[in-house]
Amino acid sequence: MRVSGFRWLGCLLLLPLTGWATADTGKELAARQGIPYPAVIAHRGASFDAPESTAPAYLLARELGADYLELDLQRSSDGVLVAVHDDNLLRTSDVGQRFPERKDSPVSAFTLAELKSLDAGSWFNTAYPERARERFKGLQILTLDEVMDIAEGQKGKRPGLYIETKVPKLFPGIEADLKARLQARGWLDHPGQVVLQSFDRGSLALLHKAMPEVPKVLLLWVGKGSIEPAAAQSFAESGETDKAAFYARQQPRSHAEFERWLDYAKAAGAIGTGPSAALSAGGAQSYADLVQPRMNRMTHDKGLLVHVYTVDEPVDFAQVLDAGVDGIFTNRSGQLLRYLGRPPQRSEAQLLEAYDY
Ligand code: G3P
Ligand code: CA
Repeated sequence: MRVSGFRWLGCLLLLPLTGWATADTGKELAARQGIPYPAVIAHRGASFDAPESTAPAYLLARELGADYLELDLQRSSDGVLVAVHDDNLLRTSDVGQRFPERKDSPVSAFTLAELKSLDAGSWFNTAYPERARERFKGLQILTLDEVMDIAEGQKGKRPGLYIETKVPKLFPGIEADLKARLQARGWLDHPGQVVLQSFDRGSLALLHKAMPEVPKVLLLWVGKGSIEPAAAQSFAESGETDKAAFYARQQPRSHAEFERWLDYAKAAGAIGTGPSAALSAGGAQSYADLVQPRMNRMTHDKGLLVHVYTVDEPVDFAQVLDAGVDGIFTNRSGQLLRYLGRPPQRSEAQLLEAYDY
């Protein structure tokens, strides 16, 4: 197709304007909610450099200057809210040695005392010997209150909390429990200091009912329970062996299907979405690319922010920020802060050593 010189000029003029417009929109939407822009969200703490969701991970993220400490909320069998990501404790603790008969059991099958008796640090030293530290051995699982203690320990501007209700169907009433703890500690008095997130629309709606004033984000991915994929086959049915590559190739069934989930987010009271990203190097954190510029524009047009998960490398920071996202979940807060021109005063190693790790 032949395009006239005037049309080309029009296109060239329009392209940067479109980019600026979406950035301006995101910035304004964030300001309205009291949310930093672009937001640096420390995914399970500074979990590249320290065992995820433990004290050194959150201390390090706080000291580096992350805007939010991210955590996945679950509940012990005796009713205490704790920060654990996986449905069970096998990957990130010594539950297999301590409680072999219950090693596959969900977090909800353990009392707080049992959870506290686990070693939630040594697995990291084994998995990442190049980042291992002696003092990581024997680290404990944290309660929500202990994560709040760490955030509150910051003298200047304290980081906010970005809290996900994980497998909420296993924890009926967890939304009300969370409200009670946040309220008791005064965390609901400061706009934008808490952001609530879930993949589960029902849980998000319950969070909205309990805490209508607190910003909420609907997490998105392509697959069962979220956006319908274009491909008919699931990973198991596909017969493929590279799970990450399979998921990174997934796309929404249609434009309308993607839009349907934006509308679900709005209906559940969300102020934004948390879509997945496909990472340039692939790997276990690489999922469907749900932060394409047109998707971000559509999300902004509906008055919603975009906080993408989980991005750790400069090449990918550039990609998702250019595409118009408003915040990034990252395991490497220091690296993202340096990229954004907000360099921490001390390195990750210096900070861990300052805290005796
Ligand atoms: O909460 C955003 C991101 O953390 C979602 O993925 O599985 O790491 O909780 P996940
Ligand atoms: Ca999470």
